[in-house]
Amino acid sequence: MLPSVSIIVLLIAGVPVGQRMIPLPADNAMQIDITGHQWYWQVNYPEHNIQLTDTLHIPVNTVVHLQLHSADVIHSFWVPRLGVKLDLIPGRKNVLKLEASASGTYRGQCAEYCGVGHAHMQFTVIAHEPADFAGWLENAGRSGLEQQEKVKDD
Ligand code: CUA
Repeated sequence: MLPSVSIIVLLIAGVPVGQRMIPLPADNAMQIDITGHQWYWQVNYPEHNIQLTDTLHIPVNTVVHLQLHSADVIHSFWVPRLGVKLDLIPGRKNVLKLEASASGTYRGQCAEYCGVGHAHMQFTVIAHEPADFAGWLENAGRSGLEQQEKVKDD
């Protein structure tokens, strides 16, 4: 008697946990295209007519899918404080799931030697609170501007 009651309790308690563990379908996630060039990062938001260089805006606490491409040689997208690193390979698409659990600015760096400009192939990830991100997206998308948001050390 007691074991079956326990099993039922565990089953009922387990249902909401199980549902939370089901991953969202991939097409629900925001898609951002990243193309590595010697020696800069081209960032496109295909659904919003936004193109940036060396800067990536994302919403906080949200998994975004980065579609990584290379226009020339192998690069590697690395954001140490977000714990992600993945290669960009010519002729291939790699998908990186990126999430920031706190708003703020995160420095990124190419992590694969790609020529003389490699050390300067840096970028910035800016994680916004949801309302800020929605505002940024609307402004940037409306003007369709090629934002000069280069954050470079040189
Ligand atoms: Cu790109 Cu190193």
